[in-house]
Amino acid sequence: MSKNKNLLIAGNWKMNGSRRSLSIVSLLMKYIKTKKFKNTHVLICPPFTLINSFTTLAKRSKLMVGAQDCSNKALGAYTGEVSPSMLVDVGSQAVILGHSERREYHNESNKLIHDKVSNALGTDLLTIVCLGESLFQKKRGNTLRVIGEQLRKSLPDNINVKNMVIAYEPIWAIGSGLIPENDDIYKVHHFISQKLISRYGNKAKKIKILYGGSVNKKNASAILSIQYVDGALVGGASLKFSDFKAILEFCN
Ligand code: 13P
Repeated sequence: MSKNKNLLIAGNWKMNGSRRSLSIVSLLMKYIKTKKFKNTHVLICPPFTLINSFTTLAKRSKLMVGAQDCSNKALGAYTGEVSPSMLVDVGSQAVILGHSERREYHNESNKLIHDKVSNALGTDLLTIVCLGESLFQKKRGNTLRVIGEQLRKSLPDNINVKNMVIAYEPIWAIGSGLIPENDDIYKVHHFISQKLISRYGNKAKKIKILYGGSVNKKNASAILSIQYVDGALVGGASLKFSDFKAILEFCN
């Protein structure tokens, strides 16, 4: 692992967790404190119901807490929606947007994600936008075309690079135990980096590009060592302290 890498390791808990999960937050806080991470930031994104209790517990810790979605609207009569400023109000520091599960099960379009991203960037939330191709698209050799289109359409022209993060998550790698070849991860991350620089200029080099999809303690070290990989978005392996800790062990 390159010593100079500034990594973000984020856990996406999806629809998992209960108040009992506060014990995992306590263990993580303790672990982060003893490890004294210099170049690694750790983020947990539980369901909305747990954000407030997690941020309250992690108040004086370096552990960051975020959400898995937010509205494209600021406030008003939008039943079931949660705005970015409401997330900030309960201490949330980040939000994941455009996850493939939201794109697929909630029919989220690039346009809707674009509007959510603009809304989130209007606050100080670290905004993680997910991109990824299906197995069908990969097999047809369309990975870069798909990623390029999602990137172009999901991001607004006006972004604050400091708060912008991209996560490359091949849909076929999520929850499957399969991961792309290291060289394929490199190619997609390099492509994303080039596209960001050509659209936003050199300042876009600051935008972290995470890899997500079946990251675990066995493959994390190799994945995090790939050039242009600035961290990981971890699903299943972030739900168990020992598994998530084993991934964090490779950082620093
Ligand atoms: P898994 O790590 O469980 O494959 O999930 C990845 C993911 O979707 C993170 O957002």
